[in-house]
Amino acid sequence: MLNSGTAALSLALRAAKRQKPEIAEPEAIFPAYVCPDLVAAAVAAGVKPVLVDLAKDSPWMAPQNVQGAVSDNTIAIIAVNFLGRLVPLEPLRRVADDYGLTLIEDSAQAIPPSSADNALADFVVLSFGRGKPVNLMGGGALLFKDKDAASVALLLEGLPVHTVVCNPVWYLKRALFHTLMRRWLYGIMLRIPMLHLGETRFHPLGDITRLSIPPGLVLNGISAFERSEARSREQHENLGFLAQQGWVLLSNEQEEARQAERQGINKVLRFAMLAPDRTQRDSALNALQDAGIGANELYGVTLPMVEGVDNYLEPSPGKYPNAQSFAERLITLPSHDGVTLADIRTMARVLKR
Ligand SMILES: Cc1ncc(COP(=O)(O)O)c(C=O)c1O
Repeated sequence: MLNSGTAALSLALRAAKRQKPEIAEPEAIFPAYVCPDLVAAAVAAGVKPVLVDLAKDSPWMAPQNVQGAVSDNTIAIIAVNFLGRLVPLEPLRRVADDYGLTLIEDSAQAIPPSSADNALADFVVLSFGRGKPVNLMGGGALLFKDKDAASVALLLEGLPVHTVVCNPVWYLKRALFHTLMRRWLYGIMLRIPMLHLGETRFHPLGDITRLSIPPGLVLNGISAFERSEARSREQHENLGFLAQQGWVLLSNEQEEARQAERQGINKVLRFAMLAPDRTQRDSALNALQDAGIGANELYGVTLPMVEGVDNYLEPSPGKYPNAQSFAERLITLPSHDGVTLADIRTMARVLKR
C-alpha cells in the first residue's frame, strides 16, 4: 500500500529499471491518451515516456504500434484500464515476452484488474483516490509477484510509513468529502475556476510513502463497489439509438466475456461514447451539463497537449491521430448507482435533441 496510485506506478517502473541496470536512459511505453499522472510516475522513476497512438475509436494502444515503439532502451509497457474497461493484455504480454520487457497493468480505474484472473502482468497498480472504484480519499497499491518480491522489498526499504487511523475524525472527513462530491455541490464547485476541479493538469509526484491501511477498510470498499449497481446496461438500452447516427458506444467486451464465464463483478466506472465529430461532442456536452447531468470529456486532450507535460515529451503535432480524435469526440456519463432512470431518460432526451 502506498500514498497514491502514481507512487505505486513509479515504484513498479523502478523495479523494471532494476531488471535492466545496463540501460542508461530507460523508456516506458504507454498510450498517448491517458492520465498525466503516468508521466509524473515515469519522470519520478527516471524513465522516459514513449507514447503510442490508440487503435481507431478505442482506448487501447494498437499492439502493432506498441511493437513499433520498442527500442533498445525500452524496459516496460504500461497497459492502462479505462473507466472500468479492461485492456486486452494478451497481445501486450506477447510483445513484452518477445523483447524481455516488464508488463505493468495500470488498473487505477478498474477493480478487479484483469491480472487477478490471468496473472499476465508483472505488476498491477491500484488507486484509492477520488473518482476511483474504491475511494479512500487517497492511497494506492502495488501488486507484485513472488519473483519480484526481493526487488520490491529493496525499493520499499527506508520509505516512511503513514498509518491511516479510522477514528471519528477520519469518518467525519470522509462524510464531508462525500457531501462535497454530491452532484449539486460538485456542480457548483466545478464552476469555480480557482479550484481547478475537473481540469487535466500535470502534477509532479512528490514523496513516496507507504500506507498502513486497515485491510478491512480496503475490503469493505471493494465489496461496496462490487455490490453497487452500475447503470450502464440501462444506458446502453436508452442511448443505443446513437449508434445509428454515427456515434460509437464503448462497451466492455472483455468484461462481458469474463462475466459470461464466471459471473464476474467488474463494472464500468463511467459510460463512455464517441460523438461523430468535435462540434457535435461539444454541443452535446454543453446540453447535458445544462440539463444537470455530470457529463464530461475526461482529459479533453492527448497527453502532449496537457499543460506542463510538454517539458517531458517531445513536441508531436499530428503524431497520434487516433488518440486526438478520441480526445476530441469522447463524452463520459456517470453510471454509478446514484444515477436514476429519470437521469438516463434525460440523457436520452437531450442527446436526441
Ligand atoms: C489511469 C491512471 N493511473 C494512475 C492514476 C494515479 O492515481 P492517483 O490519483 O492515486 O495517484 C490515475 C488517476 O487518475 C489514473 O487515472
